[in-house]
Amino acid sequence: MPSSLAGKVIFITGAASGIGRSTAIKLHGLGAVLVLTDINEPGLAETLALCGGGGGGTPTPSSHSTFALDVSDPEAVDRVVAAAAARHGRLDHVFNCAGINPTAAALTATSVAYFDRLVGANLKGVFNVTKATAPHVAAPGGSYVNVSSISGWNPTAGTAVYCATKFAVVGFSKCMALELGPAGVRVNVVAPGYIDTPTNAGIARGTPEARLAMEQGNALGRMGTPADVADVVAFLMSDGARYMNGSVVQVDGMLKT
Ligand SMILES: NC(=O)c1ccc[n+]([C@@H]2O[C@H](COP(=O)([O-])OP(=O)(O)OC[C@H]3O[C@@H](n4cnc5c(N)ncnc54)[C@H](O)[C@@H]3O)[C@@H](O)[C@H]2O)c1
Repeated sequence: MPSSLAGKVIFITGAASGIGRSTAIKLHGLGAVLVLTDINEPGLAETLALCGGGGGGTPTPSSHSTFALDVSDPEAVDRVVAAAAARHGRLDHVFNCAGINPTAAALTATSVAYFDRLVGANLKGVFNVTKATAPHVAAPGGSYVNVSSISGWNPTAGTAVYCATKFAVVGFSKCMALELGPAGVRVNVVAPGYIDTPTNAGIARGTPEARLAMEQGNALGRMGTPADVADVVAFLMSDGARYMNGSVVQVDGMLKT
């Protein structure tokens, strides 16, 4: 059966690493045309190469494109979205994945600069990109997938700022599901658990003891992989999820506590 995402233009933030990169590779395999964005330009080039290249040379509607982009900067977001829409003619789906994973610290040890950085990437970035892309997203038929976290409903001491941004992404996305739904544009949330990505330092790159504790605390006995999340993101964008709107989908293997 042909993929319902073949030929669809998909705008991805945070595409240079981890879940964003893995999702780009998955969507490339399904025949989508990708707009890959991130602040990390060398990482973006690597992702593009993993997606078969296609960014350089003469632009064609079917080739992927890359843009350096800090999602916390509204003017940069407007510029890049306008350029992407001009190049590809439209956007079909948006994956708001760029974000900063938590560093555990008590609130009294948390700086305003840290707050601004996390809110800028994790929440303001979702706002900026959604606002800029909405006029270009195909209606009906388009969709958004926004990344929250198990921290989007499950609070933990030492991660107040991160938790606040991920709770906020759920609220923002549900409002957008109501606002864009009547035009036939769906907005859903993916909420990963402990996924083994480069910046998930507390767990994935922590001590062997910490990793073992996480694995033993998970019903499936392992951490998630970026591909575990990418498969769900691709489904949420596909026609198979046509009646899913405002949903928050956990991809966490089920935590025991
Ligand atoms: N890894 C996990 O366990 C986990 C769990 C739940 C949620 N998440 C969320 O998933 C998303 C992806 O995380 P990941 O684990 O793949 O991390 P990652 O660090 O591998 O990838 C995040 C990407 O976002 C980019 N980025 C950061 N700030 C940016 C900004 N201001 N503008 C543009 N790009 C920016 C980084 O350069 C990086 O390429 C994040 O929103 C994260 O909070 C991750």
